[in-house]
Amino acid sequence: MDVTLKQQIALFAKTQENPFFVYDLDKLSKHIASLHNQDIKLWYAVKANPLSKVISTLDKQGMNFDVASSGELDQVLAQGIDCERILNTGPAKSPKQVRHFLQRGVNTFVVESISQLALIDKLSAEFERHPSILLRVQLRFEEGDNNPLGGNALTPFGLGCDEWRRVDLSQYSNLSVIGLHIFQWGNMLDADKLISLWQAMVTPLTTLAEEMGFELQVLDLGGGLGIPYDQSQSRINWSILKAALVKIKQQSKVNELWLELGRFAVGEYGYYICDVIDVKHNYQQPLVVMQGGINHLLRPAITEQAFPVQLLRDSSAKHSKFHIHGPLCTSLDKLGHLALPDDLSEGDTLIFSQCGAYGFTEAMPYFLCHELPAEVVIEDSKFKIIRPSLPAASYLY
Ligand SMILES: Cc1ncc(COP(=O)(O)O)c(C=O)c1O
Repeated sequence: MDVTLKQQIALFAKTQENPFFVYDLDKLSKHIASLHNQDIKLWYAVKANPLSKVISTLDKQGMNFDVASSGELDQVLAQGIDCERILNTGPAKSPKQVRHFLQRGVNTFVVESISQLALIDKLSAEFERHPSILLRVQLRFEEGDNNPLGGNALTPFGLGCDEWRRVDLSQYSNLSVIGLHIFQWGNMLDADKLISLWQAMVTPLTTLAEEMGFELQVLDLGGGLGIPYDQSQSRINWSILKAALVKIKQQSKVNELWLELGRFAVGEYGYYICDVIDVKHNYQQPLVVMQGGINHLLRPAITEQAFPVQLLRDSSAKHSKFHIHGPLCTSLDKLGHLALPDDLSEGDTLIFSQCGAYGFTEAMPYFLCHELPAEVVIEDSKFKIIRPSLPAASYLY
């Protein structure tokens, strides 16, 4: 990580008693600006990091917003974003939620089942609206593997072609079906593999649209672009992906190609900073117990993939692999088995990088009633606390 940034964070950390996330909005802004292009419409998957300042930074860079709940919608609207720049994805759309979206003026829905189609059609008539609809498709691939987003497995995300083919769209006269949505692989770092999966989708999807009798104007390929969590991995090349997407756009003859970026948009611009509470050797293995663990950063427990870590102060000591545990009463509370300097001791501070996506809101903060971590941004080179760290009393009833 950038040495100056590390030094600045180390200085700021001296003012904090509890663990905190910090997001570098200056670098985030530059990154998003570098993704812009004429050919692909970019949406930000708000679930990756719904912090107000992250949303407004992306807004300034012209991103659109993919929201998956009423909470995410309200958070995006609270930042002054126009409904025309919001779409709704997600397998659980209750009548209450769909009403909320229509009332607020959202006009684009990704539909994941036949009952969702019927529900949105019925409620659109009530609200005298005519929203645009993308049908979410789940394909099976010969060489595909499984993945947190499902891969080839059966998931609640959309329907297979056979299921969609049976639908008579003329029954849903309050809706305009304008496209198809597909997203089955998350955190992909192999550009060739991602491109070959995308390419393999073109024929089944264009055929499905033809069979269902609607004009395929939009193809939404979801997210799935990865970031490296491990030194052995390298960054995915956006220019190569962009060139491949332009080809896919031509092959599928759509007017618009959409991507919904989460991790690739924000993941690399966040850090989690946390103090060491205890260091010990157990059965000859070095082990560190931290002030925060999966109550603040759950992802390593779900994916068995650690966030990269460094000691926040300088040390020239030789490195050993430490088992890094959090404060919870479960051995699942582990942030990794990673190299740290041998002079690591109680009171030291560690900094985990690549924590900008699927961090604060993905965690399980209430177990054992520890403090909630703070959320801090760096904007115009200044640190600003957006969410202070709160004690358990703030959420216990
Ligand atoms: C519908 C949808 N779009 C986009 C994303 C973002 O995915 P990623 O973070 O892999 O870009 C997700 C993540 O779960 C999703 O469910």
